[in-house]
Amino acid sequence: MEDSIKTKVVKVDPENIDYNIIKEAADIINKGGTVVFPTETVYGLGADALNENAVDKIFEAKGRPQDNPLIVHIAEVEEMYDLIREVPENAKILAERFWPGPLTMILYKKEILSDKITAGLNTAAIRLPVNKIARALIMESKKPIAAPSANISGKPSPTEASHVTEDLMGKVDMIIDGGSTYIGLESTVVDMTSSTPMILRPGGITGEDIAGVLGECAYDPAIIKSGEKTIPKSPGQKYRHYSPKAKVILYKGDMVNAAEKINEDYDKFTSQGLNTGIMSTAQTEKFYGNKTTICMGDRTKMLTISSNLFRCLRDFDHMGIDIILSEAVDEKGLGKAILNRLGKAAGEVIEV
Ligand code: TXA
Ligand code: MG
Repeated sequence: MEDSIKTKVVKVDPENIDYNIIKEAADIINKGGTVVFPTETVYGLGADALNENAVDKIFEAKGRPQDNPLIVHIAEVEEMYDLIREVPENAKILAERFWPGPLTMILYKKEILSDKITAGLNTAAIRLPVNKIARALIMESKKPIAAPSANISGKPSPTEASHVTEDLMGKVDMIIDGGSTYIGLESTVVDMTSSTPMILRPGGITGEDIAGVLGECAYDPAIIKSGEKTIPKSPGQKYRHYSPKAKVILYKGDMVNAAEKINEDYDKFTSQGLNTGIMSTAQTEKFYGNKTTICMGDRTKMLTISSNLFRCLRDFDHMGIDIILSEAVDEKGLGKAILNRLGKAAGEVIEV
């Protein structure tokens, strides 16, 4: 391994941004380097989207397969027109309504975006984040910034700077610590190249939100029936993802029945000598007595669960857990995105 880059880690308060640090970070971007920055979803590993050499460094640092395209981040809506061939009316409406925010749109790209970024596709993924540090960095560097989640490929996306240092120390030029991210799951990816918008990856902006504005919104069948032989339209969705070191089993169905089955399996695995942990919710914690649990949050507050999910998976790894027994959540609103990530993390799903 050639882990020889010196990584500078700096703290920035999103409510009181130190522009000297932003200038230094923008300088690194403009010289073809890599900067990790916070967004409202997860931390991103950024480089100049118009510099192929810099983009290469992203793939290298993450160990990311070359056939998985990157999201290009912009700071103002107008910047989209430099990168996209034709912006359909529907996309303009979504941009107006949901940008800045956790929405990524797939649109036909201009030549200026290289095949490296789009993995040879004729479309590109564009996003305008709301996080102030992210926007300040894009504005200051005056470049569109390519940024996947700042984790080693396959691991849960980072929602705190400590997750980034764990994965990327010595592999990037700078890490900006802007505190915990807000939503905790990656942006919604929506394909705008056909007349009906289609969600390829569920996230903070839901299908209901989009249908509320455009009248309709479809879901790529592959995100619902994971494991079946449907080929996802978003290349990233075909990979096993969000995997902690521990094996994850997901228990779907009625909350009380799930807790009962989880208790049973916990005892079974523990007696086999496996370090077992339960990913619970505020409503079910009482069922597990003094077993090892981490609570994802209150079932009636999906945003709490989404913001905690990836941290919980990483925390189990830090505890040396071999097997995680996780509850599911209702598939409503943000619950769809939470279930999508849990489903991808899980090696096995049990319907109770
Ligand atoms: O919230 C987020 O979106 C974060 C922050 C950093 O902005 N970024 C992120 O990037 O999650 P990444 O690379 O981890 O996920 C990008 C997803 C992948 O599933 C990729 O396959 C898909 O977007 N994607 C990118 N370009 C695409 C394209 N042209 N067509 C279809 N899917 C595309
Ligand atoms: Mg990712």
